[in-house]
Amino acid sequence: PMKLRICEAVSRLDVGSKITVQGWVRSVRLQKQNLFLHVNDGSCLQSLQVVASAALNQRLLTFGSAVAVSGCLVKSPSRGQEVELQATQIDVVGECNTVDFPFKIKERHDLEYIRQFPHLRCRTNTFSSLLRIRSQATTAIHSYFEEKGFIQVHTPVVTSNDCEGAGELFQVELAGQEKKSGQEEDQHFFSVPAYLTVSGQLHLECIAGAFPGVYSFGPTFRAENSQSRRHLAEFYMVEAEISFTQTLESIMKVMEDLFRSTTEHLLARCPDDVALFHKHVKPRHNINVDLMMKKRFNVITYTEAIDILNSSSQTFAFKPDWGFDLQTEHEKYLVKHCGNVPLFVTDYPYTLKPFYARDNLDLPLHTVSAVDLLVPGVGELCGGTLREERLELLKKRLELTGLDETYGWYLDLRQFGSVPHGGFGMGFERYLQCVLGVDNIKDVIPFPRYSRSCLL
Ligand code: 4AD
Ligand code: MG
Repeated sequence: PMKLRICEAVSRLDVGSKITVQGWVRSVRLQKQNLFLHVNDGSCLQSLQVVASAALNQRLLTFGSAVAVSGCLVKSPSRGQEVELQATQIDVVGECNTVDFPFKIKERHDLEYIRQFPHLRCRTNTFSSLLRIRSQATTAIHSYFEEKGFIQVHTPVVTSNDCEGAGELFQVELAGQEKKSGQEEDQHFFSVPAYLTVSGQLHLECIAGAFPGVYSFGPTFRAENSQSRRHLAEFYMVEAEISFTQTLESIMKVMEDLFRSTTEHLLARCPDDVALFHKHVKPRHNINVDLMMKKRFNVITYTEAIDILNSSSQTFAFKPDWGFDLQTEHEKYLVKHCGNVPLFVTDYPYTLKPFYARDNLDLPLHTVSAVDLLVPGVGELCGGTLREERLELLKKRLELTGLDETYGWYLDLRQFGSVPHGGFGMGFERYLQCVLGVDNIKDVIPFPRYSRSCLL
């Protein structure tokens, strides 16, 4: 018999073929004459119904066991499926200790419960769907940039710079070795202190000095000391850098297009998986993906945002004030206020953004060309800026912050064929949270890392 994945078997219309499938038992039901199984192999949300003579039943054939089933694919008389497998042979490949198995037959376990079992939660329908969606979204993101002519760059995971200057660095050190006394440089494997990257932006900017558009998509690390629902210590970031651009709008356009084309791809390629999240994983907030896809994203300035917050009747835990970061509660309010679709907030105070942000030279306000994309249910999804390409202004800013020694190479970029450019970073897990309506970021990554937790 021909070996098929279950996604192939359930969509096969040429009934009568002899096939074998391998997978895990999602349900078992024994009647007097017949045995019914549902077998899932992760290739799609749907399980294949298997019908066999009760004589094929065996002690080890239980919920959760791994099986290989051979038989004939026939048209199914039951509703909800086109075909079923009339089994002539069922082999239990791996038994399941159902007493200790944390998942029970016919129960829908919630995300919080299954999170306790990071090594096993892929056996549930919900997490199986999440993993297919994550994989498809990754493909969609790469295709988007490929189609637009961007070059993918592998930026380093270990680096000696702190791009965001926020001091959320993890330092990389040799394990289990006493620090040798003596020369300072002997103490470090790389001669200098090295860290896990908080952003690949500065490396992308180097490469953008020779390409029109570049991007990266990889693991990013921040020592966030919070138990928040939208921060991880290790997350995936999509970063893009675009050369020869002078407007924030051109950066915003790439953000919006990336969001749309990725979401379109997901809705087309895994509608069942996305629907499972929307129907069964009750989100706290009302997500409306159709609305987000239909309407253009809104745009307001940071200054307008502060005005909106101050004229609202809602009381915030943190009073909104010009010159201070927008808090999550502010971001969520602004998104709702502006129609519950994604919202660009532009032109932040100079003091709020890192050294590389381009000065708008609009004293006395003094803002920079920076933009955050805020989305329903999550808040900040993307952050981007035009980069300061004017050597003198950049030099001054680096001197002010005492970084001019460290970033000599960065100043070099502004001396040898410098062009106006800009870019952004999108948190991949936050994107998934937004589109799926998942409250907690720990539920959209296979093995979440956060403060006080590094299971497995
Ligand atoms: O706004 P951020 O800090 O921007 C940068 O790092 C820029 N250097 C990017 C660039 O311009 N190339 O981070 C970008 C996005 C945030 O908007 C957020 O979605 C996500 O990364 N992010 C996190 N996601 C999960 N856990 C964390 N701890 C995150 N920190 C940032
Ligand atoms: Mg940010």
